[in-house]
Parts: sequence; structure tokens; C-alpha cells
Amino acid sequence: MTLATPPGDRSGYGLVIKNILTGQRFDGLAFARYNSDTYGAFTFTKFGPVRFYQVADPDLAHEILVKRTDEFHKGIIKEVLQPFLGDGLLTSEGDFWKRQRKLAQPAFHARRIASYAGVMVEYTRRLLNGWRDGETRWIDREMMKLTLGIVSKTLFDADVSAEADRVGELMNSILDATNERLTAVIRLPEYIPTPRRMQVKRITAELDAIIQRIVDERRRAGEDKGDLLSMLLTALDDDGSGMSDKQLRDELMTLFLAGHETTANTLIWALVLLAQHPAALTALHAEIESVLGSRDATFEDLPNLPYSEQVIKETLRLFPTAPGVSRSPTHDLELGGYTVPKDAFMQISIYAMHHSSRYWQEPEAFRPERFAPEAEKLIPHYAYLPFGGGPRICIGNQFAMMEARLALITLVQHADLSLDPAHPPVAEQMFTLRPRGGVKMVVRKR
Ligand code: HEM
Repeated sequence: MTLATPPGDRSGYGLVIKNILTGQRFDGLAFARYNSDTYGAFTFTKFGPVRFYQVADPDLAHEILVKRTDEFHKGIIKEVLQPFLGDGLLTSEGDFWKRQRKLAQPAFHARRIASYAGVMVEYTRRLLNGWRDGETRWIDREMMKLTLGIVSKTLFDADVSAEADRVGELMNSILDATNERLTAVIRLPEYIPTPRRMQVKRITAELDAIIQRIVDERRRAGEDKGDLLSMLLTALDDDGSGMSDKQLRDELMTLFLAGHETTANTLIWALVLLAQHPAALTALHAEIESVLGSRDATFEDLPNLPYSEQVIKETLRLFPTAPGVSRSPTHDLELGGYTVPKDAFMQISIYAMHHSSRYWQEPEAFRPERFAPEAEKLIPHYAYLPFGGGPRICIGNQFAMMEARLALITLVQHADLSLDPAHPPVAEQMFTLRPRGGVKMVVRKR
């Protein structure tokens, strides 16, 4: 028998009310876990006008992302990001998305990515050179600057060092606004110019100008550098026409945003976890010492540095920096024995799956060894999804893994970073999974 809806909080408000009564902000991460721990791996919540389906079940995630892709569209994430990103890879769908993905894919092939390793290490070294022994740094800002610099240089051969702080600030405001839209209980029609929407418009215009400068410079130079920007600039449609300025702008903006924020947060959480788990840091130092000594890491070294990969993978389990992916059915459908209506707001909660004792032993413990080759084979298929899955899997997943590993190795090789134990960082879901209020760390040069 097909049941109407999955179990869940219908009282109306559950955790939301609790948050309001205790004066706390709505906590998306706690909400995701509460749902999964209290009601199970597929839940339906109703609060006010919001109807929300949460999937924290590997088999259903596989069904949605791989087996039945045609029956789902990208849902709310598209709605909230489109005013800013337009129709880039993250937000577009159907044949248009397919064509753009095919165009961009070569820039992310393994051989091509290998050639980015030098920039990744060099930019991390440069960042370290700017740090003084004994000083306290806002590590979140430092990591954002680093990953923005790397993505701009590798994909667009553009130097944004002069604008990096400003771009970071602008992106942050956009993410704040996006988060507000995601969690808003009542959403006003798009044509109403709220102060927030006006602000997003101004910020978008400023970012557009920076992107336009990058494109204009390349067009003026008229050179094919073989990077992603050149690929996009020289791409031709079947009818022989090139990509419009608007399309180009949308793809660049998407890669700017998708290509730096999540990786920066991964590095932040890895540094925090290592500062909190000295045994893991010692093991990482030992690996680096035996393979590299004091020389810089290269792409070729990575297979000999497996623990660095385990650290990043376990970081992404505990702190999946993209904590969920949204989808909505294209028609009323049956899923896991329940009915889900067309266009319903659904999220595959990567965070809830990664923290569930259904799939992990002692899920709250930081144990990079879970990802040692033999142990990794025991992880249930699709219970670990930091980069999503199926045809819409993150195009930058290998890029991000390599960047996170090379940057982390270089950072711990040359600096000891410690936290103020009185102020442990707290994770919050702000569209991505970030440390609330940032993270300060004390730098000791090694
Ligand atoms: C640790 C870092 C990263 C994480 C956790 C992450 C996570 C994700 C996830 C979960 C998706 C799937 C979204 C969905 O199915 O709705 C995605 C898509 C995407 N990511 Fe990443 N990402 C990371 C780094 C990067 C990097 C470095 C780039 C580019 C340089 C990138 C570019 C993209 C793009 C363009 C998409 C859309 C792909 C498509 O739909 O065809 N990401 N990412």
C-alpha cells in the first residue's frame, strides 16, 4: 500500500519553536539530524506554509541522483541562486546544461588538473610567507583568499589578488542573502524590491564588472591559453555561433562561487580538526616528513601521501561543506513507498547521512582511518556523498580533493596552528557549512 507521506514533524514547528523559545537562531544542521534521528531516513516536515521532504537514506539518494534523474529538477537551490548565478552549470538543466557540462569537462580531466598542482602549492606558500610567527589570523578569511586565488589562476589565468578581499566580502553577502532566501518561511514575489534584493543587485553588478574585466583582458590578448576561459570563449554551438556574453558571465560567476567557498571551508575544518586531534596531526606530520622532508609536494607525490587524503575525506564526512543537495519531482511520484507531489521541496541531507549511526560507528568521532583502503570498502554505497552523485556530481571534485590535500600538506609542513580552547568553532549551515563568526588561529612557524 502506498502511504500518503513519510513520517515527520507535522505538529507544525518542533525544532523551529524550540529555537524561537530558547532565543536561538534556526539551526539547519540540528534540524537535519533531529529529523533523521527522530523520524528516520525519509521524513516529511510541515511548518507554517513550508512542506519539506528530507532524504537521509543512501538507497533513495541513489534513486534520486542516479536512477531517476529525469524525474527530478534542481528545485529550490535553482530558484534562490538563479538571480545571482543566472544559468551556469549549477543552476541550468536539460540539454542546455548537458552542452555546458560537456564544454567545461575537459578543464577538469585528471591530466589537466595535474597541471594545476604547482599553482596550488605556490599560492599556499605565498600565503604562508605573509604570516608572522606568533600572530593570530582569521583563518577563514585566509583560506577564502587562497582558494579564490587558485581557482582564478588555474581556470581563468586571472590574477585577482588585488580584489580578493572585496570579492570574498561580496560573495559572503551573496551567500548570506541566499541563505535567508533558503530559510525564509514566507517569500515575497520576485518583483518586490526588498532592501536585501536591492543589495544583491548592487553586489552582483560589482562582481559582474570584475568578471567582465577578466573576459575583456583575454579577448584583447586574443590568445588561446588552453584554460577553461579559452575553452568557453572559443566554444561554438552547432550553428557555429559562440557563447553569448551573458552565458559566459553565468559560467564564470558559477565557477567563482562553487570553486572556492566549499574548498576553503574544507580546509578551515581540516585545520580545526587537526588542532583538536594531536594524534592525527602527528600521523600527518610523520607521513609528510618521510615522503617530502622539507621540499614542496607535487602532484606525483600524492599517491605516497594517503593519510592526507583520509584526513580530508573524514573532514568532509564530519563537515560536508555542501551539507545537502536539493531536488524537486517533475511530477507527482512514488519514492520509498510514499507519495511526493510535483515540485515539492526535497533535500538529500548529506550532513544527516554522514552523522547517522545507521551508517557509521561512533559518527561524531574524527577518525581518518575510516577511509583507509580496506575500511573504506565497508562504507555503505551512497552513504558518503560530499560531492553529490550521478550526472550532476560536482565537476570540481578531483580538483577540490587535490587542492585541499596540497594546501593542507603545505600549511602543516610550515606552520603549527592552534585554536583558543575557550572558543571552539561552531558549524552553521549558511547554504554551505561554515564556522559561525569565523575562526581565529595562532600561527607558529615550523
Ligand atoms: C570540497 C569542495 C567541494 C564540495 C564539497 C562540492 C560539492 C558539490 C556538490 C554536492 C555538488 C552537487 C550539487 C547538486 O547535485 O545539486 C556540486 C556541484 C558543482 N560543483 Fe562542487 N564542490 C566542491 C568544489 C568545487 C570546485 C573546486 C569546483 C570548481 C572549480 C566546483 C564546481 C561545481 C560545479 C560547477 C557544480 C555543478 C555541476 C553540474 O551540475 O554539472 N565544486 N559541488
